[in-house]
Amino acid sequence: AQERTLSIIKPDAVAKNVIGEIYARFEKNGLRVVASKMKQLSKQEAEGFYAVHRERPFFGALVNFMISGPVMIQVLEGEGAVLKNRDLMGATNPKEAAAGTIRADFADSIDANAVHGSDSLENAAIEIAYFFPATDVYGR
Ligand code: CMP
Repeated sequence: AQERTLSIIKPDAVAKNVIGEIYARFEKNGLRVVASKMKQLSKQEAEGFYAVHRERPFFGALVNFMISGPVMIQVLEGEGAVLKNRDLMGATNPKEAAAGTIRADFADSIDANAVHGSDSLENAAIEIAYFFPATDVYGR
């Protein structure tokens, strides 16, 4: 089915100047960018976005990393977009990411892991609404 998912290019990948290379991977694999913006997240915005991880030991480091520089936030649309984006990203820990995935090619560590992608259709809807009013999503 046609789905939408939320993708974030994290501060490490923005700093590496690979936004375009990552967008090309989305587009070559049938995902359309239907909303996008660059944004310096505030601490409150990053904490709210990752609220499900609030009790995890890595929460503080994750939030500090996500506010260390601007991020590129986009909504991707396409057939099976949630799983397709996760396949393109590769495993959360770049050391475990399959060859040819975004994280294998661009990520340095489990915190500086280049990209975020929604893990389910349900979370995708929540995450998209967190950053984009419905009027700013230009899907088909
Ligand atoms: P992301 O998909 O953005 O969701 C939460 C992030 O927490 C994850 O990518 C990682 O960058 C980061 N993180 C750090 N340590 C861990 C861990 N042990 N397990 C999962 N995520 C982690």
